[in-house]
Amino acid sequence: MSKITAAITGIQGYVPDDVMTNHDLEKIVDTNDEWIRSRTGIEERRILKGEPCSYIGVKAVEGLLAKTGTDPLDIDLVICGTVTPDYGFPSTANLICDKVGMKNAWGYDLIAACSGFIYGLTTAAAFIESGKHKKIIVIGIDKMSAILNYEDRTTCVIFGDGGGAALVEPNEEGLGVVDTIMRSDGAGVEYLYQPGGGSANPASHETVDQRMHFVHQEGKQVFKFAVTNMADVSAEIMERNNLTSDDIDWLVPHQANLRIIDATANRMGLPKEKVMINIQKYGNTTAGTLPLCLWDWEKQLKKGDNLILSAFGGGFTWGAIYLKWAYDSK
Ligand code: UT7
Repeated sequence: MSKITAAITGIQGYVPDDVMTNHDLEKIVDTNDEWIRSRTGIEERRILKGEPCSYIGVKAVEGLLAKTGTDPLDIDLVICGTVTPDYGFPSTANLICDKVGMKNAWGYDLIAACSGFIYGLTTAAAFIESGKHKKIIVIGIDKMSAILNYEDRTTCVIFGDGGGAALVEPNEEGLGVVDTIMRSDGAGVEYLYQPGGGSANPASHETVDQRMHFVHQEGKQVFKFAVTNMADVSAEIMERNNLTSDDIDWLVPHQANLRIIDATANRMGLPKEKVMINIQKYGNTTAGTLPLCLWDWEKQLKKGDNLILSAFGGGFTWGAIYLKWAYDSK
């Protein structure tokens, strides 16, 4: 019997309709379009109003099930990467299962910040390869606007809302996830985190007054770690699988900063044409960036294409996946 691998067999994204441009932000904080574009590559981002994060997941999953002709009752497991869950508990995955009618599925949330989707896909691959499950949905979604301080120009200009969902199924042609390298380093906590609201600093008047429920980021420090680690892990997965830049069809990088993406692509020896970049229109959607890239590029992907997915995020968390695309888009 041939080895079972875990393949993405469908991808669907969702972004809210409301657009917040750099010029809109100029009216809120002391910033300007030129600074944001040149330092990050972002031109606009989407903002979800009046709905919780699960709404993004429900929209993406409903679209995914419809386009792949999948019965919600056939889904075994839902893994949801997010740092902006609807509640402390229950999990957002639970809520999405209920709202979409995935009555036979179990599910859980995975807190890995910007690496949420690659951590989730790695986990799903293990369940598929072991034979335990046949249909898993991996979600990466965030409503970053819910935890941004719109008086802090160093963070509020970077992030946006959105995300997507992937259907993961067994494959016997050697397509899907070939290799994964996942890393983490909790010593990075102080550089990028949400200080308030957890058990370290439970919600109180004081934590609210001190704005501890918003994202805290020391951008310069995170930038240094992100550039080095995302490039290193991407080069490592190429080396480990004897891949040259010619063998790779697409780099699917986390969209945090165009300069980090460029550094990673350079290190891998890839030309711009092979790099998925949509940061200009969505900003950094945290766990949402990779599924949004795959969704935007789905029609250009061909069965057998070699993809490297790569991400770095708060925690710190980072990693890379070598994936063979499993289908031609209809
Ligand atoms: O996705 C998870 C991981 N996150 C990341 O990978 C983010 C990594 N970090 C970054 O992408 C960058 O560090 C930022 C985009 C966050 C910041 O860019 P930077 O080039 O590192 O800028 P900086 O923090 O060194 O700030 C440079 C200057 C400062 O002014 P002074 O001290 O030189 O006078 C800032 O106060 O830019 C100022 N500044 C701004 N100016 C206009 C900071 N934010 C803004 C702003 N508009 N929004």
